[in-house]
Amino acid sequence: MKRTAPAPLSVWRPINLDDFLLGVPHYPEHVDETYWDRDAERMAAAGFNTVRMGEFAWHIWEPHQGRFDFDLFDRAIDGLARHGIKTILCTPTATPPRWLTKAHPEILRVDANGRQASHGSRQHADTTSPVLRDHSRRITRAMAEHYADNPHVIGWQTDNELNTTTSLSFSESCELEFQKWCHLKYGEIAALNAAWGGHFWATQYDNFDQVVLPRPNNPSYVSPGHRQDYHRFLAEATAAFQHDQVDILRAANAEWFIFHNLGQLEDIDFRGDFGQDLDFIGFDIYPMLYDEMRRTGGHAYTQALQLDVCRSYSGNFIVPEQASGFGSQPEFSTMTPEPGEMRRMALTSVARGADGLMFFRWRPAHFGAEIYWMGILDHDDQPRRRYDEARQFAADIAAIKPVLMGSSVRIDVGIAGADFDNQEAYRTYPMGLPSPHQDAIELHRALYQRNIAAGFIHPEDDLSRLKVLYVPHWMMWDMAWTVKVRDFVEAGGTLIVSAMTGTRTRDNHIPTELAPADGLGALLGVRVEEFGRVAAPGADGLFGAKALPMGFGNGAAPRPACSAERPYNLRFGNRDIRIAHLYEKLLVEEDVATLAEWADRFLKGTPAITQRMIGNGHAIYVGTYLTEELVECLIGQVIAQTGVAPLLEVPAGIEVSERIGSDGTRLLFVLNTTHETLTVELPAAHDLLAARDVAGATELDGYGACVLRL
Ligand code: GAL
Repeated sequence: MKRTAPAPLSVWRPINLDDFLLGVPHYPEHVDETYWDRDAERMAAAGFNTVRMGEFAWHIWEPHQGRFDFDLFDRAIDGLARHGIKTILCTPTATPPRWLTKAHPEILRVDANGRQASHGSRQHADTTSPVLRDHSRRITRAMAEHYADNPHVIGWQTDNELNTTTSLSFSESCELEFQKWCHLKYGEIAALNAAWGGHFWATQYDNFDQVVLPRPNNPSYVSPGHRQDYHRFLAEATAAFQHDQVDILRAANAEWFIFHNLGQLEDIDFRGDFGQDLDFIGFDIYPMLYDEMRRTGGHAYTQALQLDVCRSYSGNFIVPEQASGFGSQPEFSTMTPEPGEMRRMALTSVARGADGLMFFRWRPAHFGAEIYWMGILDHDDQPRRRYDEARQFAADIAAIKPVLMGSSVRIDVGIAGADFDNQEAYRTYPMGLPSPHQDAIELHRALYQRNIAAGFIHPEDDLSRLKVLYVPHWMMWDMAWTVKVRDFVEAGGTLIVSAMTGTRTRDNHIPTELAPADGLGALLGVRVEEFGRVAAPGADGLFGAKALPMGFGNGAAPRPACSAERPYNLRFGNRDIRIAHLYEKLLVEEDVATLAEWADRFLKGTPAITQRMIGNGHAIYVGTYLTEELVECLIGQVIAQTGVAPLLEVPAGIEVSERIGSDGTRLLFVLNTTHETLTVELPAAHDLLAARDVAGATELDGYGACVLRL
């Protein structure tokens, strides 16, 4: 396995290793040592090359403060190496041991109601705590020094799914750290008061020692600027916590690769220091956690969505944990992959950017809070269908690896994503409107269903490979992004910007110019003169979960009678479309054409969707939020005109995506996400998985797959 220096973050970036990491998270500490050799032998026979170990084993590495014990893992690493299996180690900081929480209870998180986390599960300690950071550096240094020259340890995972259980803390120590952060950021308290709007509701501070953490609804709302800064602080603190570890590991052995396995994506700014510190990111995939409701698009769609989001941060990634079977914690359980589905889900991950994949986990635990979270083996130590599928997947990877490594996932339609500030800006003041992400899903899902190559991308990334870029209600816009999207349009791209974009400053103030601000309105030739809410069909006119005024009654009080619905329609071509959530009344420049106009009420005849030609491309503004129907029109009447087409015309349930090598070689993944055999019209090509030529009508078994080299 050879590591090269990582290229700058980009959705197009392959990982900087020359081999595909394939294996399992492994917990040798959970079984008797008599199992170990057979485990390693079976892993090698399955075609695995790597295990990940140690993320919850601080109590084993350091059973008493300052007394380290490497014996158990030394033997485990050596035993695996004898069968050709390399090890990724983890810093074990997600589970500080009891001696530490007993000696330093101040490292425990405190929730918004003042409840201190107790010892006994995981992620109980607060990563903003300087005391925890000291101990995190100590354990990391001890492990890094011990393994620096061990040739079987090839890389590291920092911690485990940082911020997944919760990212928040309202402890005294956290408040102190927040005050320091604010001081560093603003220098003068007057600057903080101006940013947070201290003259509103007398929230002014005299000095930084008085600054409080923004406790949600206690009793009423905090300023959006205050809340945004708390989350920026949490994200920076998370990055700093990780940075301590990365620094130590890199100093110990510069050849090691370092990644983090993402879980819930809370308070982590991947395109910031957090992601820049790493070689690549890891993304844990549990598609079976998501239900089959049409609203979500089912678990196959949700997996594709999450992978496309994940790729937007820094390009290709590895999957350090991919669901293998039934999973549960005490209060929930997941659906179970059917025969063949575990392999299909793993191939989906690869099709959408995974350059390494590990099945969670080698065997299920017999004790603890995840006793029914199944692994590749069963509780009786027997390999059954999941083992067979893992072995088949290893053979799949062997067949495609020479073309796969170094390739990027094709995107024709990009959706602006991976912007921490915009995600948080929405959350500071959601008003019951869909988030940019929820809105983006309307488009992404429709593209997925049509097998159009789609993905998320930050405007600062290389946009030149896209045909279309959609910007979903990014409240915070930036002049530098206007320059980037103008270049994209002038070169022939189609930019689609939707309502509410460019409506806040970085402090979450409303700009003094009409939106869209920061050069975007001038580029599009559009200004928003007025806007208003629209009830979603069937909604009762109360917008947002907290719409009831204080004192209206407790949760049990009846909701007020439905307000009269006010439908608004727009006319797109020859279709009247019922819109939802929000309308905008637009002022447009003379050279701006109307693609769709409002069809009724006081807006009638005014532009709803506009288009301006700039250079060789088009800049489009949509004065509302997406609905399924509106997306259908946009795809049919706007996106299709740009030359974007499905990668392959296939029956519903077949998922198609493409990876393109640096020499232009194309790998077309055709995956059956259903349990039924489906017939697919394939181009004349070589299927690398079955090692045969295919052309025309071809049967694909339930959960079957082919990967065509084009
Ligand atoms: C992941 C976590 C693992 C395990 C798994 C199954 O989120 O990283 O440690 O808990 O979920 O629940």
